[in-house]
Amino acid sequence: MSNVTVIGSQWGDEGKGKIVDWLSSRADVVVRFQGGHNAGHTLVIEGKVYKLHLLPSGIVRPGKISVIGNGVVVDPWALLQEIDNVREQGVEISPKTLKLAENATIILPCHSAVDGAFEAARGKGQIGTTKRGIGPAYEDKVARRGIRVCDLADKDILKEKLGRLVLHHNALLKGLGAEELDPDVIYSDLMNIAPSILEYADVVWKTLDEAQSAGKKILFEGAQGMMLDVDHGTYPFVTSSNICAAQAATGAGISPKMIGHVLGITKAYTTRVGAGPFPTEQQNEIGDKLGERGHEFGTTTGRKRRCGWFDAALVRQSIKTGGIDGIALTKLDVLDGFEEIKICTGYELNGKQIDHMPASQQAQAELKPVYESFQGWIESTEGARSWAELPAGAIKYVKRVEELIGAPVTLLSTSPERDDTILMHDPFSAV
Ligand code: IMP
Repeated sequence: MSNVTVIGSQWGDEGKGKIVDWLSSRADVVVRFQGGHNAGHTLVIEGKVYKLHLLPSGIVRPGKISVIGNGVVVDPWALLQEIDNVREQGVEISPKTLKLAENATIILPCHSAVDGAFEAARGKGQIGTTKRGIGPAYEDKVARRGIRVCDLADKDILKEKLGRLVLHHNALLKGLGAEELDPDVIYSDLMNIAPSILEYADVVWKTLDEAQSAGKKILFEGAQGMMLDVDHGTYPFVTSSNICAAQAATGAGISPKMIGHVLGITKAYTTRVGAGPFPTEQQNEIGDKLGERGHEFGTTTGRKRRCGWFDAALVRQSIKTGGIDGIALTKLDVLDGFEEIKICTGYELNGKQIDHMPASQQAQAELKPVYESFQGWIESTEGARSWAELPAGAIKYVKRVEELIGAPVTLLSTSPERDDTILMHDPFSAV
């Protein structure tokens, strides 16, 4: 049995929550390794809806260990609030079940303030960030200014580092015409919550190494999607972390050999929140229908998601750059009842056909999708639990997706319910 790493192959919101929850029933440890509370993972378990942002999806299952790795940027107030919310829904959370990397970077109020102020200053060139302070916190991390979970245990170091960090951000806030922040207020607010956060602090790389040596199964849970990867996505309209499977190693402190089978969560059509190129976007009744049928509103910000046809060229690229072995195809049922369904197989750029998303921002904006057209199916695929229950049209669509992206469909999800899943290959024994 190997480990499994789950990443998104499009622009996030591919339905990772359900698949990770489904897989976590077979795992012992579930690990988040990048992003922060910009993520939103919805789990529907026996009719009960859990909305998670920072907590690994394994948290709702008794007996699992949930790990927040060093690659995650952690807003401590948001984390404590989420722990309270999930506890209120009857889930038990304790330092035995939740481990927070002592070397994870912390998001402070100045990060969200700067995130919001920069977005406002960008005007029409906005990225459409979640304004959760994700980008500014990662900037501080690489600039070696960041405050980490372990710093909360050392009053003097914390005060000194915080003074320097807030000075930096206040200069930016002043320049952007926004209100400056008082480092003393942030310090005392942090000191108030430090004991509650430090309860969960852990040497995560060691915990994971021990789990691996003991033969435990580890599930690495990615957030966002490959097209939001800071290197391989539609830069600059991306998030500030690497989404690719390789990040599971650096973001959790494990060997790349421990990543195991990489499952790319892929929606049967495409959505995106925030600004940036989206070649197959349908700003028409098709897009509206996909959005309505798929309930396409952001879990974190409530924003309406942009919707369009499946882009096989984009997913094919994510499979290569992300290191994906097989995909979990989600929300196939949203396509039920469409008379015609289209798949983008490549792009046209300056009169030439290309088979990949180029890096240049200008080129990305000018791409024209090249489509292949399918006759839709009238029958419902919702709730199908076996291949035999799928209409012929849907099977044809899935087979063509596999051919075009160059990877097998490992899992097929046909509703938000955990059991409405068709398993083609077991990812835990796939490597
Ligand atoms: P940030 O991560 O808040 O800096 O936002 C950068 C870009 O990533 C924006 O376009 C966001 O809408 C997008 N984004 C961030 N997190 C998610 C997510 O979990 N799902 C989908 N899009 C996201």
